[in-house]
Amino acid sequence: MLRDVLDRIDRGLPLGRQDLRTLLLAESPADHAAVIAKAGEIRKRQLGNTVYLRGLIEVSNICAKDCYYCGIRKSNPGIVRYQMSEQEVLEEAEWIWCQRFGSLVLQGGENTSSEFIALIERLVRAIRDLSHGELGITLSMGEQSEATYRRWLAAGAHRYLLRIETSDPKLYSQIHPRDPAHSWETRRDCLRRLRDVGYQVGTGVMIGLPFQTVDDLVDDLVFFQEMDIDMIGMGPYVIHHETPLAKMAPEFSARKKEEQLCLALRMIAAARILLPDVNIATATALQALRDDGRDQGIQAGANVIMPNVTETRYRRSYQLYDNKPGLDDAGGETWDRIRTRIEALGYTIGYNQWGDSQHFHRRQPKS
Ligand code: 5AD
Repeated sequence: MLRDVLDRIDRGLPLGRQDLRTLLLAESPADHAAVIAKAGEIRKRQLGNTVYLRGLIEVSNICAKDCYYCGIRKSNPGIVRYQMSEQEVLEEAEWIWCQRFGSLVLQGGENTSSEFIALIERLVRAIRDLSHGELGITLSMGEQSEATYRRWLAAGAHRYLLRIETSDPKLYSQIHPRDPAHSWETRRDCLRRLRDVGYQVGTGVMIGLPFQTVDDLVDDLVFFQEMDIDMIGMGPYVIHHETPLAKMAPEFSARKKEEQLCLALRMIAAARILLPDVNIATATALQALRDDGRDQGIQAGANVIMPNVTETRYRRSYQLYDNKPGLDDAGGETWDRIRTRIEALGYTIGYNQWGDSQHFHRRQPKS
């Protein structure tokens, strides 16, 4: 019963798989609201009401991977491939810094060429220099070698996001090509490597995938816990019409957006309840399902938001899923809207702060 689980949480007792399952299955409006409220309470107690910002720059959509769900997979001929120039990235970084965002994220398709690796290294250095070391730098560039992770860390990056997509290797193999380039084990090993190298490590999953069960989602939460993850970024799976997964599971598109959104929100809430001191980002994909979806993510326990600051002319080419918000927004427009909404909900924006994961600092060996 949900009431028993909420009671266990209040008494500070550990949660087992069955308890997590109960949280995820709390579908009735009253039960759903109770789970969200509990996560909000825990977030406030542990982290206060600050929301940290990471300005997101989508550096390039050139990608070596062919993930069945993703709009920028290499076999999608329907998009124009781009790579921003160094100057364009640095101008956006400068804007982020002037807006006092505190941190930025450089994200791109997976590219392991030596030119790209060197480009990212130069960009990280230049961003560190232009902001006098004030901007926190997060990278999200997929699976790379240990040497590359080390190079980028040495240049000044300190956080890395790499979603495991699903903690179940079997489900992973259903939504990716079955070849060595798409290996669940490699991805898990990359997460370990990132941690060993010294990054704050973020991972996440897609919620509501075809073939995914509630028990898979419970396993995802346990995976975050067992991997001792510092940051979580997860959002609903949203169909991209030009992908194999959209065709493999056509009945899936009949699923109600509202159900998909609510399940994702309860997953965020359950993660906050289970792991009170990690950073959790509210995903842009939540907003693809409902206009205020990202705000709801914050109310469900997320404490980080990543406003997209990518130049408008590139946004159309970085559509991971259908209905991605902000496609036509001019530079600062997305941000203005986000700021107004966060403040209206009573949260404080963490200007000029890195807003590191408390969990990361807690797990550092004391010297
Ligand atoms: N729906 C939701 N999220 C998606 N991503 C890629 N395609 C989709 C989709 N159709 C997410 C993946 C990836 C991140 C960059 O975008 O989780 O790790």
